[in-house]
Amino acid sequence: MTKRSFCVAIDGPAAAGKGTISKAVAAHFGFAHLDTGLLYRAVGAGVLAGGDAVTVAKTLDPAQFDQDSLRTPEVAQAASRVAVDPDVRSALLQFQRDFAEKAGCAVLDGRDIGTVVAPAADAKLFITASADVRAQRRFLELSGKGMDVTLEGVLADVKARDARDRSREAAPLVAAKDAVLIDTSELSIEQAIGQAIAAIEKIKGA
Ligand code: CDP
Repeated sequence: MTKRSFCVAIDGPAAAGKGTISKAVAAHFGFAHLDTGLLYRAVGAGVLAGGDAVTVAKTLDPAQFDQDSLRTPEVAQAASRVAVDPDVRSALLQFQRDFAEKAGCAVLDGRDIGTVVAPAADAKLFITASADVRAQRRFLELSGKGMDVTLEGVLADVKARDARDRSREAAPLVAAKDAVLIDTSELSIEQAIGQAIAAIEKIKGA
């Protein structure tokens, strides 16, 4: 008997709320969750520490990730720089697919989940919000952790990464044709989570 699987792909630009929404969706449905951005951040951090991007990508051990040190603006920029390299992307692709296959039911969030990593995903969401709103939220998150950031700096980071992520040749950031679009600019986090769960319920029930 084949295992019943349900895969949810959640993509969108920097700081759109994918992480929070993905965690809540995974908890609601009892699915595993993989934040694929952390993989790219870990490669970026490895390069900042003097490593070779492809070698780091091939030898990643997510069990060793120190999430706090990966969630800095410097590491985010380094992540988006290594993410243009097709060899880095293909080294990380198998890891992501293996995770989804092993989990059976999984939520993956990133930039290219619905288009490249899991194009056959049962449900695809594309989460977005205006650059100003995204920068404001990320600024509050990072300054709340005691990081020395400015709103202008965070906005510049978000815009620079969006531009690089959208314009790269390998797996650019773009909504899959069959993705449900959710703009969270005017939504509270509870409303955004509610819309995401409702969209998935609708697809599951269809
Ligand atoms: O949390 P945030 O939206 O700020 O970023 P992230 O999801 O942690 O991703 C960091 C960077 O990794 C992005 O700016 C992308 O360049 C890259 N990334 C990617 O190329 N493909 C993915 N599936 C996930 C992340």
